[in-house]
This record gives sequence, C-alpha cells and structure tokens, in this order.
Amino acid sequence: MIYPIVKYGNPILDKPSEIVTIFDEELKQLVEDMFESMYAAHGVGLAAPQIGIPRRIAVIDCSFKEDPAAKMVIINPEIIKKHGKQTHSEGCLSLPDFRENVSRAMKCSVRAQDVTGKWFEAEGEELLARALQHETDHLNGKLFMSHVSALKRDLIKRKIRKLVKAGEW
Ligand code: NI
Repeated sequence: MIYPIVKYGNPILDKPSEIVTIFDEELKQLVEDMFESMYAAHGVGLAAPQIGIPRRIAVIDCSFKEDPAAKMVIINPEIIKKHGKQTHSEGCLSLPDFRENVSRAMKCSVRAQDVTGKWFEAEGEELLARALQHETDHLNGKLFMSHVSALKRDLIKRKIRKLVKAGEW
C-alpha cells in the first residue's frame, strides 16, 4: 500500500515518535509499505511519521532500487558515533521542492533494531551518513530546517505560507 506523504505544517512531524516494542507481521507489512511509499515519492529515505505513523521506524535506500543490499530498515535507531563534516544540498519528501545546504557528520554509526527486533550496528559515510542522520532526526521530531539559519528558515516558512494560501501545499 502506498501512503500519502505528510507535509511540513502537520504537527506529527514536530513530535518525537514512539518506541517500537512489538515486532510482528503487521510491522513487516508496514516496513514493506514504507519502501513502496518512499519509491513512489522518489525518495531515498522515509520515516514513519512522514506517512502519519508516529513510530520509531525508518527505511533508507541510497541506491534507489539499484542495489538490493542497500535497502536498510532502522527501528528505534540511535546515532552512537559521528565523525567529520560534510555540507551538501539536502531535501525532504515532507518539504517538496525545497533544498538547502545542511552540514552533517561525514561518517556516523547507528545502533538500531531490525524488523525481527534484533539489535545491530551499522556505519555510513557520505550520502548514507546523511540519510541516517536525517531519518533519525525525523523520529526525534526534527526536520532539516532546524539545521539551517533562522533567516533561511523564515524564508522557507513564508514561501510555504503562500503555497498554503494558494491551495498548493
Ligand atoms: Ni525527510
């Protein structure tokens, strides 16, 4: 099932999501639906609150279907190590058509549970490190906008208000 993507302005995106404690068939189905929804929206990462479900689940595929091994599910993730710095233009499915330069750690390690509840650690560099940090932020109620200057943030908010008024958001 493809879920519609929740856009900026919906309060679900600003709240920390709930810890997942039950690892059952329903969760497996939800994860499959999240991949399907992410691909349909042309994204390389998606967090559950972005489809209106405030649970600590995110999916990532930086290869966008090219490499099955790149598919990653992180449940109850925590960034446990960060190293270095990268600054690149970053976007978000909940902020369509907005991109800003965001500084993130160049490398990071995440500790998370898989779809069966097993804990694992994974390391990411460059785009994967960026996706791990971006998606974990979502689960903590943070958008990439919180990493840009107040000036840029206000400009984005103003543009969105106009789009809302025009019925285009
Ligand atoms: Ni996002």
